[in-house]
Amino acid sequence: MTAASKTLRSQVFSVLRPAEPSPAARRWRAFHLIVLAVGLLAVILLSIDEFAAGHRVYLRSAIWIVTIVFLVEYLVRLWIAPEMPLYAEMPPMRARLHWVATLPGLIGLLATMPAVMMTGGYGITGTDTASVFCILWIMKLGLHAPAFGTLARVISNERAPIASVLIVFAILLMAAATAAHMFERVKQPEAFGSLPNAMWWAVVTLTTTGYGDVVPLTVGGRMIGSLLMISGIAVLALMTGVLATGFAQEERRREYLRVWDQVSRVPIFASLGVVTLSEIVGKLRTRYYPAHVTVLRRGDPGDSMFFISNGEVEVRLPTGGSVRLDDGAFFGEMALLNRQPRAASVATTRPTTLLVLYASDFYEIASHIPALAEAVENEATRRREENLGREGKR
Ligand code: CMP
Repeated sequence: MTAASKTLRSQVFSVLRPAEPSPAARRWRAFHLIVLAVGLLAVILLSIDEFAAGHRVYLRSAIWIVTIVFLVEYLVRLWIAPEMPLYAEMPPMRARLHWVATLPGLIGLLATMPAVMMTGGYGITGTDTASVFCILWIMKLGLHAPAFGTLARVISNERAPIASVLIVFAILLMAAATAAHMFERVKQPEAFGSLPNAMWWAVVTLTTTGYGDVVPLTVGGRMIGSLLMISGIAVLALMTGVLATGFAQEERRREYLRVWDQVSRVPIFASLGVVTLSEIVGKLRTRYYPAHVTVLRRGDPGDSMFFISNGEVEVRLPTGGSVRLDDGAFFGEMALLNRQPRAASVATTRPTTLLVLYASDFYEIASHIPALAEAVENEATRRREENLGREGKR
């Protein structure tokens, strides 16, 4: 392989990498989503016979184009697979075979199925198999959702409580199905005559779905049904609680790593020891702002201060002038220290990453780390004097 084609391959790889922040990658993701939306809309419209009658040619052409885009995308992804860091040590062909067997590889392959079927002679009409295959395109949407990876980690982290809830679910289901079978089988032999039939009723009741196709008629059966519905709500609430806590914890861990990465760029934190730093990192939050967005408005109450880890902001002073602050600087501290409204408005001049520290955490940290509090206070005093000086000159 020549060096030129190698760099082209790595360039294409960086554009197609999920969550890559570069403008080209963003444009590709937007294009991919639009193509996906057009494809799905065409398949859905094609299934409405009255609508499709007049527009069949256009809808089929749209499906053809979308299919071809996905086919080309699949081939390109196959070509760039050796660029993945995971396969760095493998020969290119082996890397490609490995990628084909991954989830994104399989989803990509399924998305090209309509193309294979159409070239194989299957017509795309409203209700045939090829259209059903097009619906598999919706799986590509999953590749755009970063939360999928988080979901997998949450399920893995919380597998013990999730398993406990599922076991409670299974116990309730079996116990209720058996009891209902005993109470109801004489009156309703069809619905409750066998345990599998009684289990269908138990699942519909325990999940609080309640189709109403099978209803207990005896007093015993109804009591079991009532208990089951109440237990169902409790079990679902338990599962919701386990997953919600798991998601929150996972997000906190990720945020901690993100902040840890950013914090080293702020000089005021650089001299702190690891233990002190880890305390601060736990309290900071990252915020990404595009260019020309107002972060603070003069006169607003101050509930937080900001450290610039990357980017630039413009402080619009009440005297009319402005000051620019960039990497490593902080702002928003005056309102916290003086407990007064914001003294100036602050807006980003280019895309900027800020670390936010909320007032309650600021006061707590300030009491633990006097050196940090002093540095912030000194700067606030200097700024206040500078502003007063400017006002005096007006
Ligand atoms: P605060 O008053 O909370 O909100 C506006 C912020 O602008 C203020 O805190 C300071 O952080 C910042 N600021 C005000 N005056 C100056 C200045 N002269 N130079 C740099 N930053 C300033």
